[in-house]
Amino acid sequence: MCGIVGYVGFRPARDILLHGLERLEYRGYDSAGYALQYNNSLVIRKCVGRVTDLAAMDPGEGARATAGIAHTRWATHGEPSTENAHPHTDSSGRIALVHNGIIENYKSLKDRLKARGEVFVSETDTEVLTKLIGLELEAGGNLLSAVKRALSGVRGAYGIAVVSADEPSTLVAARYGSPLVVGIGEGENIVASDVAAIVAHTRDVVYLEEGELVEITTRAVHSHGSDPRMIRERMTHVDWNLSEIEKDGFAHYMLKEIHSQPESLRNAFRGRLDMSEGTAHLGGLNMTPERMKQIRRIIITACGTSWHAALIGKYILESMARIPVDVEYASEFRYRDPVIGEDTVALVVSQSGETADTLAALRLARRKGASCYGIVNVVGSTIARETDAGVYIHAGPEIGVASTKAFTSQVMILSLIGLALGRARGTVSRSEGIALANAIQEVPDKVETILGRAGEIKDLAREFTYASNFLYLGRGVNYPVALEGALKLKEISYIHAEGYPAAEMKHGPIALIDDLMPVAVIAVRDAAYDKIVSNIQEVKARKGRILAVATEGDSDIRHHAQWVIEVPEVADQLTPLLTVVPLQLLAYYVAVARGCDIDKPRNLAKSVTVE
Ligand code: AGP
Repeated sequence: MCGIVGYVGFRPARDILLHGLERLEYRGYDSAGYALQYNNSLVIRKCVGRVTDLAAMDPGEGARATAGIAHTRWATHGEPSTENAHPHTDSSGRIALVHNGIIENYKSLKDRLKARGEVFVSETDTEVLTKLIGLELEAGGNLLSAVKRALSGVRGAYGIAVVSADEPSTLVAARYGSPLVVGIGEGENIVASDVAAIVAHTRDVVYLEEGELVEITTRAVHSHGSDPRMIRERMTHVDWNLSEIEKDGFAHYMLKEIHSQPESLRNAFRGRLDMSEGTAHLGGLNMTPERMKQIRRIIITACGTSWHAALIGKYILESMARIPVDVEYASEFRYRDPVIGEDTVALVVSQSGETADTLAALRLARRKGASCYGIVNVVGSTIARETDAGVYIHAGPEIGVASTKAFTSQVMILSLIGLALGRARGTVSRSEGIALANAIQEVPDKVETILGRAGEIKDLAREFTYASNFLYLGRGVNYPVALEGALKLKEISYIHAEGYPAAEMKHGPIALIDDLMPVAVIAVRDAAYDKIVSNIQEVKARKGRILAVATEGDSDIRHHAQWVIEVPEVADQLTPLLTVVPLQLLAYYVAVARGCDIDKPRNLAKSVTVE
């Protein structure tokens, strides 16, 4: 996903813009650029490559500019090139624009503009929008009114920041489908696609609503959108500190985030567990016990790792609350015309809160009358704001593209929801609830124990540096963990890996087994233990090499598995919170051994805000 930063104030804009882009580098990009507004002109620099390459370019008199916009581009229309890099300008060169999102009707607009003699230098949809605004400005009015008129003819998703050489110390920003947040400073204001680019300057921010335009000057931010409240009434305070966004001495954000799971899991249940009644209080759900008793059906929709958390949620909610749960890939759900209605509760799981497919699935579920609840990490994100209610997972900023701490916190929140529903519906007794609440409280320390074995897992990972394929097997609530372990390995080490229900092996995949096929099996001492051991024996009989994630003290498993990683014992429903951790570390260390780009894996973005 691309990154946007815009600044207007009294300090040198270029430094602030470049620093902001650095804070957004984790999102992944292939080119970068800025436009500085100075002395009634625009100074534009852009390049393919990194922000450091852009910083090395001489800004000329732009070094004295105190307003400007900047961008890191993740190519969607047109390959990575200087011509396709943002900012783009209109034909006069007096307007510059940066854009996140996709203009879906850009081709027809481009044809119309070409017929009017407009000349295009790039393949991008963004340049079309810029030229539209330029023509509207020629027709009269100021930059804000020109942007408003141009956007009225546009279909698709956009987050934009625009600057004009003729309107000093003024930026215009607008969003629809691609997030923008404005930081409110003293005598300066900053707009960005992510709060990470803002917190170094101010913690008072306003998240733009869908369809909102703002005119930003040094003194004020004027909103032109559906929300009548004054900007200052909508301000929220960001409590993430920069160190949370830094790596804190870890080699990669992903490793830092794996090791921060004891803390992020504590943050997920802090203030929400009722130890005396053995239940959970989730104020954000705004759901009374009576409402909880009425629920007849739940769907959970998500993408990727969040979908794996959702699948674990199915097992947990069905076992604790005895409610039928369907888990839906958002990308499928949104086009399937699903049979849901007022009797349906829809849980929408998303770390970023901006995933396009998940947002579309949410909007569909709402249109069909379902009550929609978000399980989201990023405060103020679009999904968080468009659900009826929800529960923030409080995992803190997750920078590594491969999701780790957000996953375990999503599973934790789903466990809390299951506990609350089960207690309200009487399907979990008070004593069972108290036992579960105690088990939940012990999870962070047990994760800490597993993290203490990271060195052991790092050594083991070397065995798989040159593996071409990897199979992950699990049963019951650990089947989705097998899927998640496989996804982690795929996305950061580029080894082909597949997760499978263990019993499904004999229906085909066992043909893959030979001594070159490592097989990771989640074989904790739960209700499925004996069955999983027989699956291991089936694999072993075909010379498969077994890595077992097993319960501490299980000596039997060592007769069947070549390698064993132990995890502490915990209540069956909570085992995924532990069994996933060795698989996260395994994927990480295999990818390190293979010299892969851990935090910015090829072809991936942290948040997929386009279809
Ligand atoms: C997870 O490791 C992946 N990066 C990806 O599958 C991710 O989980 C998916 O894109 C959903 O993102 P979201 O949770 O922000 O909606």
